[in-house]
Amino acid sequence: MNQILTLRRPDDMHLHLRDGAMLEAILPESARHFARAIIMPNLIPPVVTAAQAAAYRDRILAALPDGMQFTPLMTLYLTEATDPADVAAAHAAGLVKAVKLYPAGATTNSQSGVRDFDKVRGVLERMAGIGLPLCVHGEVTDPSVDIFDREAVFIDKVLDPVRRTTPGLRVVMEHITTEEGVAYASAGGENIAATITTHHLIINRNHILAGGIRPHYYCLPVAKREKHRLALRKAATSGNPRFFLGTDSAPHPDHLKEHACGCAGCFTATNTLSILAQVFEDESALDQLEAFTALNGAAFYRLPANERRLTLTKGDAVTYPSKIPTGAGAVTVFDPGFPLLWKVTD
Ligand code: NCD
Ligand code: ZN
Ligand code: ZN
Repeated sequence: MNQILTLRRPDDMHLHLRDGAMLEAILPESARHFARAIIMPNLIPPVVTAAQAAAYRDRILAALPDGMQFTPLMTLYLTEATDPADVAAAHAAGLVKAVKLYPAGATTNSQSGVRDFDKVRGVLERMAGIGLPLCVHGEVTDPSVDIFDREAVFIDKVLDPVRRTTPGLRVVMEHITTEEGVAYASAGGENIAATITTHHLIINRNHILAGGIRPHYYCLPVAKREKHRLALRKAATSGNPRFFLGTDSAPHPDHLKEHACGCAGCFTATNTLSILAQVFEDESALDQLEAFTALNGAAFYRLPANERRLTLTKGDAVTYPSKIPTGAGAVTVFDPGFPLLWKVTD
């Protein structure tokens, strides 16, 4: 008999939809399965102001195919020139659900991010006052810090001091990749949470580097040692409300991934739910899949859980396209390296 699992419709609390031809091609990959997503603002130019966020939201909704229901939850890209009043007005209007902090130089399109944290103190204080979460790409950019240590150093040198100087600031540690990240989010109380991606539950650094370099497994923060992957799996499947899904599905055209200086990002929107169901089954935690994908994130963002449901059915292996064609070039779908037996059937 087929195993069937019915969940509240999931939310993706960290998603890159891009813009233009790429947006049009990849939006259905998320909207097919997810009810809502926190939309990352790292476009060129970045989504800095409320007016830019409103315009981007309208472009997303215009690209949504007829008959699909999907709510983009908008974010603002924090710069040293961000106006606290604009942020507060965008929040009060219900337009934005978070502000995103990119340390300048840390990742894709982060050039307009923050170098001097004193310059954003006023915005952070305002956000703490109104309860608007700060989503953080948590890596230092100091070239003398080894890339595998950049998350742990960020927690000690940047995140913890910022939280101490701005009491009450609500923070989402995005795409954590280390046991240090898990420990910090676990111990931080109700003002902190962490997203975990699908791919960091599957790959460790060997997948990128051993037996040939695999650009489609390269993302930031870069996957770490096996012990960190295991810590992430334990956190994700624990039911702990501090942890929830943010796929960080981040499409780049193949010609820019398979390149002498390849872009960072794994594209997982297409097959994420099949992969996650397998992970949770392997961890004997299918009963926690709904908490991770649909309850914990909504609760942290103070949103009602979705009323619509999603059904997963276990059966013969499901096949997904290995690439999604887009007007900006084909995008390779993340390969988990094992057969996917769980299929979204409703
Ligand atoms: C993201 C992207 O491509 O926009 N890439 C990535 O490797 N995760 C940026 C980010 O989330 O850091
Ligand atoms: Zn990031
Ligand atoms: Zn991201």
